[in-house]
Order: sequence, then C-alpha cells, then structure tokens
Amino acid sequence: MAYPVIRNRRLRNSAALRGLVRETTLEANDFIAPIFITEGEGVQEEISSMPGVYHWSLDTMERELSELVRLGIQSVMVFGVPDHKDALGTSAYDDNGITQRAIRKIKAQYPELVVAADNCLCQYTDHGHCGVVHTTECGAEIANDESLALLALTAVSQAKAGADIIAPSNMMDGFVTAIRQALDEAGFVNTPIMSYSVKYSSAYYGPFREAAHSAPQFGDRKTYQMDPANSREALREAQSDVEEGADFLMVKPALAYLDILRMLKDRYNLPLVAYNVSAEYSMVKAAAMQGWIDEKAIVLETLTGMKRAGADLIITYHAKDAARWLKEL
Ligand code: PBG
Ligand code: ZN
Repeated sequence: MAYPVIRNRRLRNSAALRGLVRETTLEANDFIAPIFITEGEGVQEEISSMPGVYHWSLDTMERELSELVRLGIQSVMVFGVPDHKDALGTSAYDDNGITQRAIRKIKAQYPELVVAADNCLCQYTDHGHCGVVHTTECGAEIANDESLALLALTAVSQAKAGADIIAPSNMMDGFVTAIRQALDEAGFVNTPIMSYSVKYSSAYYGPFREAAHSAPQFGDRKTYQMDPANSREALREAQSDVEEGADFLMVKPALAYLDILRMLKDRYNLPLVAYNVSAEYSMVKAAAMQGWIDEKAIVLETLTGMKRAGADLIITYHAKDAARWLKEL
C-alpha cells in the first residue's frame, strides 16, 4: 500500500474542493456595525485612534447608514455621545437625548435596519462610570441597585424611541431582570435583551473611550467588569443572565477571549455575540497603514476565527470593509 495512507491534503487540492468542505463562512448579515452619533450639525469627524470610524451628527449619519444598507449589513449598535453629563447620567434616559433622537431617525429612514441600543451610563455621567457613584470617606463606590433603576429607565426610553434590541453593557448585578421588568411593564414584552454578559475589564476599550468620551474620571472598572484571568466566573455571569431572561449572550472583547466564546457556545443555546472591540480594530488599522500586514486577509481570517470559536454574530468596526471584501470574493 502506498504510504502515507492518510492524505488530508486531498480535500485541499482545489479552491472548489476547499469551498465544499469549508466549515465556517462569513456573510454581511453576521455583522452589527457600531455607530457614534453626536450633537451638532454637519459633523463627520474621524476618530483619531480609529481610522475609518467617524462621529456623525443626526443630519449626516444617513451617509453611513445608506452605505451599510447597500453593503447588506442589517444591524447597527447605536452609541450616543451627549453634550451634557451629570452625576446621575440624566441624558441617558431623556426621551430627547441624543441616543433617543438617533434611534428615532434611523428607524424612520431605515425601518428594516435592526437597531440595537447600548445601555450604559458611562457616556452620560460626569465621572465616567457605568453606574451611580457614592463618595464616602473611604473612597468611591458604585451603587449597584440604585444604578439599576436608571438603567431600566434608559432601556424603556430607548425602546420608546424605537430600538429593536436593548444591549446593556453596564455590568451591574441584576441588570437583565431590572431591564426586563421595566420593559415588560412599559409594554415592550417583545423587545429582546442582548446582554453584554461576559465583559472583561480590558485595555482593549481604550480607543472607544476616546470616541465616546466615556473614560472613568477616577479609578477603574474592575469592581464591575471581569478579571481577564477568569473563565469559570464567565459561566456564572452567563448563567445569571440566562436565568434572568437574556435573549442573546455576548463575550467582549473577542480576540483574547475565544476560549470563552467556545465555552458559552457549548453550554448555552442562545444566540452568541462576539464584540470585536475598538483596540482590536485599531491595532489592525495601525499595522495595515504601515504596510506591515495584508489588512483584508487579516480581517477576514480574524472574523472567521471568531465565528469558528462560536460567535453567531460579530459587533465589529470592520463591518463595512469586511462586507465589501466579501462581495468581491
Ligand atoms: C460602555 C461600553 C464600552 C464599550 C462598549 N460599551 C466601554 C467600556 O466599558 O469602557 C467598548 C467597546 C469598544 O471598545 O469597542 N460601557
Ligand atoms: Zn459603561
């Protein structure tokens, strides 16, 4: 018998064969595109640490939305960047806040687009934390249960504005229950919750915090976001969200946490979302601009890896480029 007996290369012999046996594919409707909306008029301002990502105002965002829709992307994640910040983040739950106006306008222009609303307080609080802060003699403390009431108000206000999905990223304990109850009481029983279930305290959010003006003004987020060293804790976070009625689970960031994605995929049956976060994007862009890497190949390989690890959906700043490249393939 000829040697070797086992020839795994047989199935790699042509592009057509490789296509036939391919286990993971990417398509434009795997992606959710983040979009940053600010106050003002005529704004189209590139975020310096995220080349190709812009701040838009309500009158210019149509440029971006029409391009997303043209490329076959079916969902956006809205991040409002408000003018006004205060201790209680009141513009987060103002029916006329920037996020609410953006959602209303997007749904009016593109009723078919699935609009997810990030639900947190950090862009809206003057201290930049994701919840209410109590300052005592021994320092500052995040008041978990008080924050829940404000996050619930925010969710209802976002749903009233037309959000199709509420995506809480605040990492307070009990936020899914608090938001679910408030939505149900307000009549939004059919509005799903995409929980940022497993959100690590990560240096990979740096460029986003510049974009959203949401960096904490003191301390860090380590008492509410997870320790990057832990994986069993991720199961506890996911489990509580499942029990509280989350409709999607998420792992964030994605690239350094592919093991967590796989673990959740194997244990839960809810749609699983990976958030390919800002610094993951910026690192690729920086290297590509230096000519050190093949951007298209790197991005498609990375996004494929996230799907292979278990993601059903990917929130990514590469959404437009990736959708364009997939059309060209
Ligand atoms: C708000 C929020 C953050 C991100 C999404 N929602 C920042 C943070 O928690 O500091 C990060 C997204 C990214 O880096 O792309 N809580
Ligand atoms: Zn936050």
